[in-house]
Amino acid sequence: MNPMSDQPLVGVVMGSKSDYEVLSAAIEILRALEIPHEARVLSAHRTPDQLFEYVETARARGLRVLIAGAGGAAHLAGVMAAKTLLPVLAVPIAATPLNGLDSLLSMVQMPKGIPVATLAIGKPGAANAALFAAEILALNDAALYERLAAWRAARAQEVLESKLPE
Ligand code: RP5
Repeated sequence: MNPMSDQPLVGVVMGSKSDYEVLSAAIEILRALEIPHEARVLSAHRTPDQLFEYVETARARGLRVLIAGAGGAAHLAGVMAAKTLLPVLAVPIAATPLNGLDSLLSMVQMPKGIPVATLAIGKPGAANAALFAAEILALNDAALYERLAAWRAARAQEVLESKLPE
């Protein structure tokens, strides 16, 4: 299966092209698990109208989970969550002298009523966002569940086969 040729199920949105290096960790996992996905650069403050259009049409276009990565005063995930009932997974990015703490707090401190699920700062969070998206989709996709189980078993095997210096 070519993940990019199928109807995307996961939308990866980043506030700037400069966020791609971090979000690529999510895209790698989505590819490895053969989950159809798409990636877009859309900003809550630079392109609010286009962001609204993207999010408002996401569910009807077949998307089931949204991943939002942004740095600084990161309102991207919260604004996206405000415009959809799809689950929004937030990835804080270290883009300022505050090293991602600013975006972590912006995302994790969403006021009651509009949830975003916030992952760790940077690439580990991006990878986990993709894995979390896979877990959500696997609830209704037995083949994906098997791929996810195999992926995790392979990671465990890597640990068990670790070689330390003599
Ligand atoms: C945020 O500002 C983006 O998500 C990015 O992390 C940060 C810096 O953006 P650029 O100035 O590199 O475009 O909106």
